[in-house]
Amino acid sequence: MDYVIFGLVAYLLGSIPSALIVGKVGYNIDIREHGSGNLGATNTFRILGTKAGAIVTLADILKGTLATVLPQLFDANVYVLAIGLLAVVGHMYPIFAKFRGGKAVATSGGMILGMYPLLFVIMVATFLLTLYLSKYVSLSSIITGLVSLLVTIFYQDLGLSIVVFLLSSVVCYRHRENIKRIKNGTEPKISWM
Ligand code: G3P
Repeated sequence: MDYVIFGLVAYLLGSIPSALIVGKVGYNIDIREHGSGNLGATNTFRILGTKAGAIVTLADILKGTLATVLPQLFDANVYVLAIGLLAVVGHMYPIFAKFRGGKAVATSGGMILGMYPLLFVIMVATFLLTLYLSKYVSLSSIITGLVSLLVTIFYQDLGLSIVVFLLSSVVCYRHRENIKRIKNGTEPKISWM
């Protein structure tokens, strides 16, 4: 029963389309019709600016964090990382936004934060360093996924490695168009770092 309750809560939390809400409520803009069309923090920064982008980043992280913290708080009889994965599924296929969501990066980070804060700090550091060097958000997201997978070796926790492998694979797959754009030189770079 715990799996049903906390799994459903995680999926519904993940489904909250923060980029859509911030765009529509704050700016009367549907960001799915602008920029990359992605319902995520990067496209929000791109289209609506720093304040909106920061709010969406925090909200998307929080969705994942809540999904993994709640079962721990209630001492639920579940494999917490599996519950966290459902928040990521919700973020990618949100029931509240016609199942067309984001690319899984911030919510994946958030679910890791709820259980492995040090790994989250390493993820953020990797992301920022790659972003500083490459200026590509998408490449930074992919590299962060791959580095996180390597780092899990030190945790000696097979479940964690499998979950991070799944997250990292999903992040790579969801960025397939970005990878094509990086190859042909049309992927936008950030200009503010
Ligand atoms: O997390 C998403 C980011 O890595 C890429 O987003 O909008 O440039 O496709 P976008």
